[in-house]
Amino acid sequence: MAAESPSPPKNIVLIGFMGSGKSSIARELSHTLGYPVVDTDVLIVKQAGKPIRKIFEDEGEDAFRDLESAILRKLEESLPTRRIIATGGGVIVRPENREILRRLGFVVWLVVSAEEIMRRTGKNRDRPLLNNEDQKGTIGRLLKERCELYRGTAHQEIETDDLTFPEITTGIVESARYFFAR
Ligand code: S3P
Repeated sequence: MAAESPSPPKNIVLIGFMGSGKSSIARELSHTLGYPVVDTDVLIVKQAGKPIRKIFEDEGEDAFRDLESAILRKLEESLPTRRIIATGGGVIVRPENREILRRLGFVVWLVVSAEEIMRRTGKNRDRPLLNNEDQKGTIGRLLKERCELYRGTAHQEIETDDLTFPEITTGIVESARYFFAR
C-alpha cells in the first residue's frame, strides 16, 4: 500500500510592505486562533546576534537576504504547522523565497497605500531601507518594484487602509478556513 502523503502545513503567512501591520495582525491572529507567531525578522536577528540595522551596516542587504532565505528554508524543513508566520517586507524579492512561502501555507498580502506607509514608518529609524533623505521616493519605488511580486505570491490580498486590525483578522480567519478546507 502506498504511504499516505503528509497533509499540507496549515500556517497563515503574512506578507506586505514595511508598515503594513504584519506583526500586529500576526499577534491578533495568534490571539484568535491560538497559533504561535513566528517572525522571520526576529529569527534573523537571533541568528545574526545583532539588529537588522547593524546587519545592513556591517554586511549589506545581500547578506541580510541570504539570512532571510536560510531562515525560510529552515522553517520549511522543520515543517511547522498551525503557525502565524510574519515576514519582512522584502521577503518576496527572491524567487526561491516566494516558492517556499506558498508551500508553507495560506499566504495573505496586507495591501497598504504609500500615504499610510509614510504615516506609520515616518519617524521610525529601525528600517535601513527607509533611512534616507527621500523616504517618500524610496517607498514609491519599492512599492512599484514589489507590487506584482506580492500579488504573485499571495493566495489572498486585503486592502488594509480603511480596516481595523480586528476586521482584518476576522477576514483572514474566514478565508483561511475556506482555503484549508479545499
Ligand atoms: C525590509 C523590511 C523589514 C526588514 C528589513 C528589510 C524590506 O521588515 O525585513 O528592514 O526590504 O522591506 P518589516 O517589513 O517588518 O519592516
